[in-house]
Amino acid sequence: MKRTTYAGLVDESYLNQKVTLKGWVQKKRDLGGLIFIDLRDREGIVQLVFNDKFSRAALEKAESVKSEYVIEIEGEVFNRSEKEINPDMRTGKIEIHVENINILSESKTVPFDIKDDTNASDDLRLKYRYLDLRRSEMQKNIMIRNRIIQSVHSYFDNNGFIDIETPNLTASSPEGARDYLVPSRMYPGSFYALPQSPQQFKQLLMGAGFDRYYQIARCFRDEDLRGDRQPEFTQIDMETSFLSAEEIQDLTEGLIAKIMKDTLNIDVKVPFERITWNESMERFGTDQPDTRFGMELKDLSEIMKDSSFKVFKSAIDNGGQVKSITVPGGAEKYSRKNIDKYAEYVERFGAKGLAWLKVTEEGFSGPIAKFFEDEAMIKALLEKTEAQPGDLLLFAADRNKVVASTLSYLRNAIAKELDLIPNNQFNYLWIVDWPLFDYDEGDERWVAAHHPFTMPNEEDVHYLNEGEDAHKAHAQSYDIILNGLELGGGSIRIHTREIQEKMFKALGFTQESAESQFGYFLRALDYGFPPHGGLAIGLDRFARLLSNSDNIRDVIAFPKNSKAIDPLTSAPGQVSNDQLDELGLDIKNSNKE
Ligand code: AMO
Ligand code: AMP
Repeated sequence: MKRTTYAGLVDESYLNQKVTLKGWVQKKRDLGGLIFIDLRDREGIVQLVFNDKFSRAALEKAESVKSEYVIEIEGEVFNRSEKEINPDMRTGKIEIHVENINILSESKTVPFDIKDDTNASDDLRLKYRYLDLRRSEMQKNIMIRNRIIQSVHSYFDNNGFIDIETPNLTASSPEGARDYLVPSRMYPGSFYALPQSPQQFKQLLMGAGFDRYYQIARCFRDEDLRGDRQPEFTQIDMETSFLSAEEIQDLTEGLIAKIMKDTLNIDVKVPFERITWNESMERFGTDQPDTRFGMELKDLSEIMKDSSFKVFKSAIDNGGQVKSITVPGGAEKYSRKNIDKYAEYVERFGAKGLAWLKVTEEGFSGPIAKFFEDEAMIKALLEKTEAQPGDLLLFAADRNKVVASTLSYLRNAIAKELDLIPNNQFNYLWIVDWPLFDYDEGDERWVAAHHPFTMPNEEDVHYLNEGEDAHKAHAQSYDIILNGLELGGGSIRIHTREIQEKMFKALGFTQESAESQFGYFLRALDYGFPPHGGLAIGLDRFARLLSNSDNIRDVIAFPKNSKAIDPLTSAPGQVSNDQLDELGLDIKNSNKE
């Protein structure tokens, strides 16, 4: 039998026609002499009816059919009776009277039902991923991902970009995570690294004169996994020669606009807003702000510098800040107990407390209200915080970094809790003019805020000179944020050996260590290297946001779990002693004789 169409596509346009369909049994209802089967394929579900009148043989065969059997059927398309109509389904007005059925494949009872609101655990879903992927929600996600990919290829092709593959077995590429290493059999003790991104290669392709490169590139990073991270993930990666940061941002906006149109049929307005990193930290306390709602941070340091409330005054005296957020209607919605819970939570950011005031018609209420009774103080505070009676003010007083992370966390958490974030809104935003370096408090050292190939702002290049404070430099880099999440990032790159060497030095490389790790790259800069820059967007994150999924795993066909394990194949797994011997590897504490 040759299939005529997909089950999920049969609608009234097929009325009174014969169709041949193939797919999975979603559900069977046996009413004795009358059997209904929901037949499922990637496009959806259609209702089959088996009855003596249409075919006795088919009815008898249908009796033995169970859920998830694969069947093929022939039948004729009829209108459903009035009370059977389901207006929410494409196939909801019709049913198929089956004349012929073959069972193509039987199925054991599946470990969880193939339905959207599954209660199967994450690991069970991943162990039987091929079943999990049968669920219509997952099929939809994977198809959205495919739409994005097709859109990317078409956009770049139309804009003169060349798709060039770069190696996966390569040397270490520093993007701030640990490398995944692959031992070499030919050279025992030597390792390839899997790329954290194609960064050096795409730059070398600019050196090679290709001018506009793109690739849908697999990247590998051994880092702590969170909801938005996978050990292997995919970037929409691009690089161009001779363009300014703004021109690269324009090209990116064109790409995003096309993807939004092709996947969701949404027209986004370009250009996107661009704000500096400083402004973002000032207004939101984070470099990936969600701009779908207000509650911006207000700096009260000026007002509080002589406050009789010691906590505030001393934070400022110690070089820190006092900032607040205004929770609309929060006075009634938040009890002291609720606020205490948040106060405890923000300890993880280093906060030593969470001061608050409720705004009343008369002034303020709460345990610290007694410090804020002065008329002029009340006026200044209300003006700055734009607070109304009924609102709640939450304060953080500390080092700038602690204040920022505390209040940006609270801003997001409270907006979510109070349902202040509009659904179905896509707020894109560029963060530009980043610091070139970032202080890693864990490792207690300066690291590249983006990566070591990022060009400082022209007027800041001198900071890299001997005797100057390199960490004051800002960079020609930019991140694209969607709804409070870093979607992608890029920069104009360093294209001279002189600046690149200074950059390595500022990052703590010796001349020898820079030469041994990046000699090949520094050498390339000696031979007519064009000014260039680019950007990479996280495809998985983008697909997650566009499909409205909760977890990045839901848009990846075969992801790892939160412990970097693939429960389907049980990777990573042990290998035989022979394999280890061949690679010249010895495992510490192994059971090897
Ligand atoms: P960056 O490291 O910012 O830049 O990565 C670009 C984008 O990739 C996504 N991303 C991830 N997605 C899922 N899991 C991960 N573990 C993960 N890590 C990153 C994010 C991020 O914005 N070479 C530079 C780009 C450039 O300068 O052109 C780079 O890799 O969405
Ligand atoms: P205390 O005077 O320590 O009892 O604190 C009074 C209020 O100020 C309490 O609500 C504390 O949670 C809060 N508080 C203490 N330290 C800070 C701080 N660094 N920033 C904001 N609020 C604080």
